[in-house]
Amino acid sequence: MVLKAVILIGGPNTGTGFRPLTLDVPKPLFPIAGHPMIYHLIESCSQVEGLDEVLLIGSYQSDEQELKNFVSSVRKEFHLNVRYYQEFAQLGTAGGIYHFRDQILSNEPEAFFVLNSDICGEFPLTEMLQFHREKRQGADYHHKEVYTMLATEATRQQSHNYGCIVNRKETGEVMHYVEKPETFVSTSINCGVYLFSQHIFQHLSSAFKDKQSRPNFESKLPPTYRDESISLEKDLLMELAGTDKLFVYHTDSFWSQIKSAAGTIYANRNYLKIYRHKRPERLRSNTDHGPQIIGDVWIHSSAEVHPTATIGPNVSISKGAVIGAGARIKESLILESAHVHDHACILHSIIGRDSTVGAYTRVEGTPNDPNPDKPFSKMEVKGLFNSNGQLNPSITIIGSRVQVPSEIVVLNTIVLPHKDISGSEMNKIIL
Ligand code: GDD
Repeated sequence: MVLKAVILIGGPNTGTGFRPLTLDVPKPLFPIAGHPMIYHLIESCSQVEGLDEVLLIGSYQSDEQELKNFVSSVRKEFHLNVRYYQEFAQLGTAGGIYHFRDQILSNEPEAFFVLNSDICGEFPLTEMLQFHREKRQGADYHHKEVYTMLATEATRQQSHNYGCIVNRKETGEVMHYVEKPETFVSTSINCGVYLFSQHIFQHLSSAFKDKQSRPNFESKLPPTYRDESISLEKDLLMELAGTDKLFVYHTDSFWSQIKSAAGTIYANRNYLKIYRHKRPERLRSNTDHGPQIIGDVWIHSSAEVHPTATIGPNVSISKGAVIGAGARIKESLILESAHVHDHACILHSIIGRDSTVGAYTRVEGTPNDPNPDKPFSKMEVKGLFNSNGQLNPSITIIGSRVQVPSEIVVLNTIVLPHKDISGSEMNKIIL
């Protein structure tokens, strides 16, 4: 039985909360725990037996070099048929699926997964498939039209930032679904991972035709331009709730959205933890002649880390980076070809591609982790500024090709690419 997966990678105009990190790399390719964000999703898909094709759908230009390189490298590494399909405009979370239906339906897949790209976690795709098949085989469902969505638990206060699900406890059948409700609906939230059978295209077709026949007063497009976007959440899930066809598979494993730059440090920590349990060979360990490693650390084989540096916990150091003598790095991402000079200290920060941090400089940010005292707490996506117009404390981000001088302190600051800093900086955005 053929299985496929679709990953919704958005486009240059989505993922704006992620700036300035997306100014020189598409968000889905931002490296976390040594690999692009969507690499982890493709790796999870590759572990599902029978799944041999992954379609990336988005509105990035198809000649985007990094995307092309990524597609060819994952094809080889996972022996999967990975392809990118470009939408002619942003078609929403289901418009692209409908538009590329022929490509999805070729070889008559039994079912296909759909995954949002800005999520991280330990995705129980095989278990979800087994649950989906059981529901299909269930005597009551002779129509065999079954759809499954992955859900997890959130706090009551945070649930309204997600799709909220009310389901029957015994069967998992979704009775009610509301996308980002203003009032409380449920603490069971949509993880942005679905398993659909091909019947879904009948519903998408009706949603499409229905939209085309109605004037769209919300659209900013000229009236002559037909809006072909479809929302998976509003036009599909809300319609399918209560029809006896949509089911929820609940997970308690790690899952999070990646909506902000701070989210990458949190995702990095959790992916490194997964490596520790499942792929320990990916993590760096202490050796007689290497740097001191504390906790979970990933270092690219081409990076040069001085033996007197101390790295970790929860650090990823990308290709070609250089870390000097006595440097101290903790809870941070050091991106490609960045250079951290001797005795510099980097805490809760991201050092961009080709940037340098001078000797004895301290670059430090403030973590924005989920509240550990609240069960099921998720990361909050805080705005840049508080109600008084002051910058909220955040991780420090040094954009690409920035020179941070020696012997200064940079605290809770965001530096855009190609900017230079002349002295110590605190709670600032340097534009
Ligand atoms: N191809 C394509 N085209 N992808 C898109 C488009 C589009 O026009 N718009 C958004 N996406 C992708 C984004 O890149 C992201 O991976 C995913 O679709 C969802 O993005 P959003 O529309 O920003 O929704 P959200 O992340 O705020 O909420 C969704 O995900 C939550 C879980 O993370 C919803 O599905 C929620 O219900 C859910 O709880």
